[in-house]
Amino acid sequence: MVSQASALLVDKGNHRHFMAKEIYEQPETISHTLSHYVDMGAEQVALREVLPFNFAELTRLTMSACGTAYYAGAVAKYWFERYARLPVDIDVASEFRYREPPMEKGGLSLFISQSGETADTLAALRYCAGQGQHVASLVNTLESTIARESGVVFPILCGPEIGVASTKALTAQLTALASLAVAAGRARGVISPEQEAELVRALTALPSAVSQALSAETQIMDISKRLSKAKDVLYLGRGPMFPVAMEGALKLKEISYIHAEGYAAGELKHGPIALVDEAMPVIVVAPSDELVDKTLSNMQEVAARGGKIILITDAEGAKTVGHGVADIIEIPHVHPFVAPILATIPVQLLAYHTAVFMGTDVDQPRNLAKSVTVE
Ligand code: AGP
Repeated sequence: MVSQASALLVDKGNHRHFMAKEIYEQPETISHTLSHYVDMGAEQVALREVLPFNFAELTRLTMSACGTAYYAGAVAKYWFERYARLPVDIDVASEFRYREPPMEKGGLSLFISQSGETADTLAALRYCAGQGQHVASLVNTLESTIARESGVVFPILCGPEIGVASTKALTAQLTALASLAVAAGRARGVISPEQEAELVRALTALPSAVSQALSAETQIMDISKRLSKAKDVLYLGRGPMFPVAMEGALKLKEISYIHAEGYAAGELKHGPIALVDEAMPVIVVAPSDELVDKTLSNMQEVAARGGKIILITDAEGAKTVGHGVADIIEIPHVHPFVAPILATIPVQLLAYHTAVFMGTDVDQPRNLAKSVTVE
């Protein structure tokens, strides 16, 4: 249940649901998060937190979270490995806490949680603290249990998120994680000052790109009307778009109650393609990047089997598609570094409008709580 206090604290503005309001707040909330992590004038990351560790001395980063927060970490894994050459392990907290993995002392363990109260994530944090890890958390609720038990807290600063389906907290988590990955890359001598400036410029361009992506809402409403008739939906993505595909499937499931799966596009041939027929929409998250040609060939396989493709891409990607693509949702072309953050906008809108057509309780979907404080 949305607590009465929170609901009183925040109103829906002129939106029908808190979720819609929070989707539309994202240009502003991303800007606010950025103002904490980057010095836009100097085009540098500027962490304000005192770090009880040195990125340059870390041998491994372990991340653990649940649900959407886990998908934020799964995107960040690509960033820490590419831009900081830092090996990353990540697992959902409900698995991590019982695996009890052996851990080298002095490693960094990072816990991502909007509420800061998720029971499994807290249990994973306590396990890592017992393994001599540096414990850090990335939270929205600063006076939460997870924050209190962390050696350093990275705030995401997106304001209260009332809708059970997380939207602005996700993009705030991704913005903060992207900044941390750049800071790690600089500290580890992997990226130059010029590369840092390029990546910071990409981040500072994000709020206006998000505003532009939101302007596809009318087209997305039309697609969502058709999507609301589906029984099953497949989301595909490669590289950092794979966690975005999984997040898109989660959003659709949790508020429209339509079964959806997010899959690595390269895995299509290893089973899921058996599912493809004209009754199952396939949503492909593929802005033009170094992997787009491979994903487009996956799309041809889907189209050849009568699959109806909804492609999320930019103008460049839209030029290269063949037949079988029923809809193209075009997002602005941005630096590949921030493309996964931008690509979450259309999948949020698709899920929201599909749920509205389904007539479900968008802000408080059945069986779900905003914070899962029990196992
Ligand atoms: C996301 O839309 C869900 N509401 C859920 O998966 C959520 O992300 C998960 O329960 C983690 O919550 P937390 O970020 O508060 O730890």
